[in-house]
Amino acid sequence: MKEKMPAHIAIIMDGNGRWARKRGLPRTAGHKQGAQTIRSIAIACNERGVKVLSVYAFSTENWKRPQDEVDYLCKLPRFFFNRYMEELIKNNIQVRFLGEIERFPEDTRNVILSAVEKTKHNSGLILCLAVNYGGRREITLAAQRYAAAVLKGEADLQIEEEAFSRYLMSSELPDVDLMIRTSGEQRLSNFLLWSNAYAEFIFTPVAWPDFDEKQLDLAIQEYQERDRRYGGIS
Ligand code: FPP
Repeated sequence: MKEKMPAHIAIIMDGNGRWARKRGLPRTAGHKQGAQTIRSIAIACNERGVKVLSVYAFSTENWKRPQDEVDYLCKLPRFFFNRYMEELIKNNIQVRFLGEIERFPEDTRNVILSAVEKTKHNSGLILCLAVNYGGRREITLAAQRYAAAVLKGEADLQIEEEAFSRYLMSSELPDVDLMIRTSGEQRLSNFLLWSNAYAEFIFTPVAWPDFDEKQLDLAIQEYQERDRRYGGIS
């Protein structure tokens, strides 16, 4: 078996609602448990030498959920960082975010920005929270920034993929190597459309709140057994 660790793991953390309902709990209890899973999986990724863990915490489509659920999701970053900031710092984890956080309440924005600031010199795992993030939106915003640069004479109309990718919000992250979606659904749901171009996809029936180190290792092992050809041949 090849031992190569994926440098960038992206996770669509699905199944929080179903996990909670199965236990007779409100959907929000599933999200809270899911936030705790982010902590344990981030620490496990850091220990395994993964460079980046991106988690889809709030999509541009999630605003369509009932207001009380949206409000709860907006409050989760405070819960998460209050509870785990010290541990994240101790583990040398750097927090970043992807998405248009301007739309969130001021408190949510401040909590996220402060986590980024407090961990910016850490050199371990980059834990990237995708919040109010959409893959098409990311590419559309990049196209706007690129067009503006062309109009100002700062960029050429002929552009290579590599140069265009510098306009993306995810420009400082490596391409995704391993994309995991929990809870049985098998779709991308607008997550990291550009960076997932050559990712290996692993779908597990396990709900996100139940996803643990063992599940992570199984996914990494399956990834390591795959033959990545990037359109070429072995
Ligand atoms: C999908 O499950 C999950 C979400 C839309 C939210 C994910 C958010 C977290 C795990 C917590 C985020 C925490 C921080 C710190 C940013 P679902 O609700 O669609 O589940 P279902 O398909 O079973 O209904």
